[in-house]
Amino acid sequence: MNRSLPVGLGARAYDVVVGEGLLDAAGRLIAPFQKRGRTAVISDESVWALHGARLTAALAAAGITALPVIVPPGEQSKSFEGLADVSDRLLALELDRGDLVTAFGGGVVGDLAGFAAAIYKRGIDFVQIPTTLLAQVDSSVGGKTAIDTPRGKNLVGAFHQPRLVLADLEVLSTLPAREMRAGYAEVIKYGLLGDFAFFEWLEVNGPAVLARDPDALAQAVARSIEMKAEIVAEDEREQGRRALLNLGHTFAHALEAETGYGEALRHGEAVGAGMALAFRFSAAQGLISSQDAARASAAIAAAGLPTRLDEIPGHPFDADRLVAHTAQDKKAEGGRLTFILARALGDAFVARDVDAAAVRAFLIAEGAVAS
Ligand code: GLY
Repeated sequence: MNRSLPVGLGARAYDVVVGEGLLDAAGRLIAPFQKRGRTAVISDESVWALHGARLTAALAAAGITALPVIVPPGEQSKSFEGLADVSDRLLALELDRGDLVTAFGGGVVGDLAGFAAAIYKRGIDFVQIPTTLLAQVDSSVGGKTAIDTPRGKNLVGAFHQPRLVLADLEVLSTLPAREMRAGYAEVIKYGLLGDFAFFEWLEVNGPAVLARDPDALAQAVARSIEMKAEIVAEDEREQGRRALLNLGHTFAHALEAETGYGEALRHGEAVGAGMALAFRFSAAQGLISSQDAARASAAIAAAGLPTRLDEIPGHPFDADRLVAHTAQDKKAEGGRLTFILARALGDAFVARDVDAAAVRAFLIAEGAVAS
């Protein structure tokens, strides 16, 4: 059964529809958001090859022409060059502000298409049809859009909320197991940051979610989106509570920077390790018990995600380089380190003024080396 989960943002409010077979209903669901019987569909070659014909047919059934704008798969499309290319192709299609962009793919496509929509003719509406677990539970909801620069990921972007998000669980059946695990890191994040009962449910039902059991998957995706929607509605621009969604991400970004943002370590895998590190760092700071930190790690490891530095290609890492990356992370303010730490399983908080020396000593205890 489909569920509509509202993101309560006043004039920018929208629904995230979660269910099976939404791709086939996409034309009917998108129709109210377009005016001229057409939508530019920004997708990547892999997603388009798998699902493009189905989406095109669904749109056509509602009298909407799909105008495909297909980009190469992978992070390199999320660049100034990729943005220039997509913008030029939207211009060539003579899209105007009354038209609609559809982002159809994983996190890269959603971030790139969303940012292109944010700046195209000073802003055009867009809808998200996320095709990975990670994009369904995290990046397609909340309006963060961005590209990368050689200085780091997501450094140039805009907040631009979609008009609608369609999270079709059926599409996840073609997702490689490694992608499912990477997306699951963001699912378990919601339990760890703010819902102990959900965390406990995932300890039992995680294997069923990863095996794509329809009921377990629907419940996990819906609860994740519900939590994200609630946090975004309260703090759209990340002035406060939304930062909790970055649990594990400061350590994760440092590890991604050291491993080259590629195949060696997927973002979700880095988040798995980053969350385990954040819980153990919280224990090292005396905020939680080492048993609770171990329980968080065990739940992450049970999903086949890394939880220790020595499980990550590139080990042993240089402690000073890792700390330098955490300081460069855009969540660092005025030279102080900001981390999301935990008071308990299911109770994370934003810790500003974290001592870089304590982080360095912790990382060395975790197996990083002093240079
Ligand atoms: N992915 C974190 C956020 O949307 O705030």
